[in-house]
Amino acid sequence: MDIEVLIDEAIKAREKAYVPYSNFKVGAAALFEDGKIYSGCNIENASFGATNCAERTAIFNAVAKGNRVLKAIAVIGDTNNFTAPCGICRQVIAEFAENPEIKVIIVKNHKEYIVKTLDEILPGSFTKKDLEV
Ligand code: THU
Repeated sequence: MDIEVLIDEAIKAREKAYVPYSNFKVGAAALFEDGKIYSGCNIENASFGATNCAERTAIFNAVAKGNRVLKAIAVIGDTNNFTAPCGICRQVIAEFAENPEIKVIIVKNHKEYIVKTLDEILPGSFTKKDLEV
């Protein structure tokens, strides 16, 4: 998996962000089992709680096209800081992650990024296994 390609796609997706309230653009790019990259941006709403983060847009885009197995995801904000996935997005990543060791790439810019595993950013996660009786 080419991390730089994933970052490029996240940067491209960020251009599409709909952010009239925060003016904070976020882009995400997710590699799925079919070998394709699905990207997404944040989409805000006048009812702020209805906002969808970039990571969830990317993942839902992939799922809507028949994918289930997430292998890696990159996220980039619109700041000179590293932008990490929010708590809700971590939970959605956990739902589709191939395993807890998949890479979550937290990007600052093209050259500066941190690679974490899902388990590092969401240890002890609640998943479908926890629903088994
Ligand atoms: N945002 C994301 O798109 N992903 C995250 O993981 C963090 C937050 C968006 C939501 C909102 O549109 C803006 O960033 C400010 O919170």
